[in-house]
Amino acid sequence: MTVLVDGFGRRITYLRVSVTDRCNLNCFYCIPGREGCLDGGQLLSLEEVVRIADVAAACGISKIRLTGGEPLLRPDLTELVRRLREVPGIRELSLTTNGMLLDTLARPLAEAGLQRVNISLDSLLPENFSGITRGGTLERVLGGVRAAREAGLYPIKINVVLLKGINDGEIADFAGLTLADDYHVRFIEFMPVTAEEERWREHYLPLEAAMAECTRLGPLVEEPGPPNGGPARYFRLAGARGNIGFISPLSRHFCGDCNRLRVTAQGKLLPCLLREQAIDLRPLLPDTAEIAAAFVKALLAKPDPTSLAADPLVRCRPFITKMAAIGG
Ligand code: 5AD
Repeated sequence: MTVLVDGFGRRITYLRVSVTDRCNLNCFYCIPGREGCLDGGQLLSLEEVVRIADVAAACGISKIRLTGGEPLLRPDLTELVRRLREVPGIRELSLTTNGMLLDTLARPLAEAGLQRVNISLDSLLPENFSGITRGGTLERVLGGVRAAREAGLYPIKINVVLLKGINDGEIADFAGLTLADDYHVRFIEFMPVTAEEERWREHYLPLEAAMAECTRLGPLVEEPGPPNGGPARYFRLAGARGNIGFISPLSRHFCGDCNRLRVTAQGKLLPCLLREQAIDLRPLLPDTAEIAAAFVKALLAKPDPTSLAADPLVRCRPFITKMAAIGG
């Protein structure tokens, strides 16, 4: 078995797999200009995704997250989850969704073996929510959150992209969600991943501001994140059932802890979001050794975390147009 350790000592155990590049929302901070869906060629089939997961698991990947686009738009998603759960070595299987279709799909997905969901939810005010998502309905997403809870997809992580002048007045309301229930509310810094630099400058807010706002509800006590967890720093309000995470890709680099590789919906293996390199897995699929070799190659192509540009606009440039199709 190959164990994936990169040139900087980072052990890679986490694979994010995009299962569609289409999305049913059009969040202004994510979609690069074009309306709604992208159309970047043929998607990997269910069999192809399972094949990649099989080899990845044999190389030491133990955690898979399904992303999009919006993964729930994929018609065979439930079957895909069922098959991925059967892959030996995959111990954690989760997905990131905007929640619009979760009300009906949470239960079948949980029954198929999905363990957790991250739900993107940037406002608790209906009009603000529709404004950010350009077409989303808050009530539907809240219905999706309820359905996910009822289906036992715990703990539910709620992702909030922090947007100055748009949802920064709701920070304490989001933090307050963790008091009564075991939600993990994670504030994420707005990254300049669309070409609209002016908008980014206008709405970017460093997370320190969110942290200060949360302390209005009481002192925040730092706690360790989940094992194999992502780049968030976690805190808890006194007596709260859930916790609050802060993900600061800009104000605080976390590339040094990167433990992931990504596969696009078309089967390109990406070493790093902030680099252009990609390895096309499709032609390699008939040969297990070649797929494994591609994982090692991707690993070696992961950049030195200290070599990335400090200026967020420069650093994120390769990311522009990719975010919407690979779900971060
Ligand atoms: N900055 C930060 N996070 C983003 N996401 C999408 N676009 C951006 C951005 N510009 C996040 C969404 C979602 C996840 C898939 O990626 O909020 O939670």
